[in-house]
Amino acid sequence: MSPGAGGSIATRAGWTWVLLSSLAIAVYAVVPYLTASLAALSEDGVGLAPNYDGRPWFVQLAFYVHIVAGGIALVAGPLQFWRGLRTRHPRVHRWTGRGYLSAVLIAGVAGLVMAPFNSAGLVGFFGFGALAVLWIVTGLRAYRSIRAGDVASHRAWMMRNFALTYAAVTLRLWIGVLLGVQAMPGGDFDFGAAFENAYAAVPFLCWIPNLIVAEWLIRRCGLPSYALPMSSRQPVSTV
Ligand code: HEM
Repeated sequence: MSPGAGGSIATRAGWTWVLLSSLAIAVYAVVPYLTASLAALSEDGVGLAPNYDGRPWFVQLAFYVHIVAGGIALVAGPLQFWRGLRTRHPRVHRWTGRGYLSAVLIAGVAGLVMAPFNSAGLVGFFGFGALAVLWIVTGLRAYRSIRAGDVASHRAWMMRNFALTYAAVTLRLWIGVLLGVQAMPGGDFDFGAAFENAYAAVPFLCWIPNLIVAEWLIRRCGLPSYALPMSSRQPVSTV
């Protein structure tokens, strides 16, 4: 993913979609929580407010830190893949990149604090928890590789990292798809039950396909694709 002079139409269209969908979710998902207290939003049944209203102070703090820093990461992320910005204004790319990775680290740690209190139970704890750990680890790998001057690895790790950031968008798309599938004609449709069903799938569904697509793009771009570290033990010889 690297739009700019010389990029194909498909690459530009893909990047524009990612940019606009990221902006839309950063506004649509975050802003409502900044307009009133969790208690007031909870009374109106807005989003996850009923789940976080009444939680200990550090969980509520983590919630606000997470949505603000996550929103910043979602807006800044697509800009890092814009080749024109990287080549013409490398200083801007560096500073936006530092801002992006700091936002990922902050939102990721806050996501880890929230995971035990999420509204999808154990599947949410493991799904969102694994996502938070991978989000932080891939961000650190991206930073370490560019500090070491390894541009190809840096690009690959940033692609994996942003694929995880983009889970904020795919989570909402999957919920829409899974609600739509359950609302197919021919059966009774109970919105509450259908939403609960959909929400039980998304803690993993929102990021595993994204990582697969990222790995495919990394290979297609000729960047170093992920290989599991080999064991240093020698194979046991058979007689
Ligand atoms: C990629 C790593 C991320 C992790 C591990 C993560 C984790 C979580 C968790 C555990 C929750 C609570 C879910 C629940 O209680 O059921 C949540 C909610 C939320 N997150 Fe994230 N998140 C991530 C990325 C983002 C990003 C990039 C944004 C930027 C918009 C974001 C914005 C939100 C918002 C607005 C909510 C409230 C849910 C809603 O109203 O739909 N998150 N996140």
